[in-house]
Amino acid sequence: MKNIVLVGFMGVGKGTIARSVAKHSKYINLDTDDIIESMENRSIKKIFAEDGEAYFRALEKEIAIWLEKSVKNTLISTGGGFYKVKNLKKIGVIVFLDSPFDAIIKRIKEHPNGKKKLKKRPLLQDLKAAKKLYDARRPEYLKVADIVINVENKTLQECTKEILKKVKKYD
Ligand code: S3P
Repeated sequence: MKNIVLVGFMGVGKGTIARSVAKHSKYINLDTDDIIESMENRSIKKIFAEDGEAYFRALEKEIAIWLEKSVKNTLISTGGGFYKVKNLKKIGVIVFLDSPFDAIIKRIKEHPNGKKKLKKRPLLQDLKAAKKLYDARRPEYLKVADIVINVENKTLQECTKEILKKVKKYD
């Protein structure tokens, strides 16, 4: 079992899908944002506010090196910008969760905790800027992906099954 690395835009459902895949498989899951928050003992929002984005990106690089060296057989969900680390492909099989921008925003807004989900993401505060970021990143996600899963209009169960079926080939 190689590592599975979930990449994709903020709010697409990487964490939710990772937890479901873990529940229905032997994978244990890790989340790069959670690792950073516990390393720093503060939220991503605070890290951005107090030390800026460049500091956060340096932490992502550090985590990426640790993942490559020390983590095996694990499902790894990542922050939306993590895919940029240089050694990404050495960490595991890259699964891109794809969805149109409007569907992502709708998903967040319709969530019972939607307001909190928006607030905790510094790069989603300005939706126009976020759409620009989405447009710039989508082709890059496609470029690094080994597997693309279109999550729009699919249930969590469908996404889970599709991921587990497609990653089997990489065992
Ligand atoms: C970011 C996405 C966030 C978090 C940080 C930066 C990004 O993670 O890592 O706010 O650059 O897209 P989610 O994708 O889980 O929101």
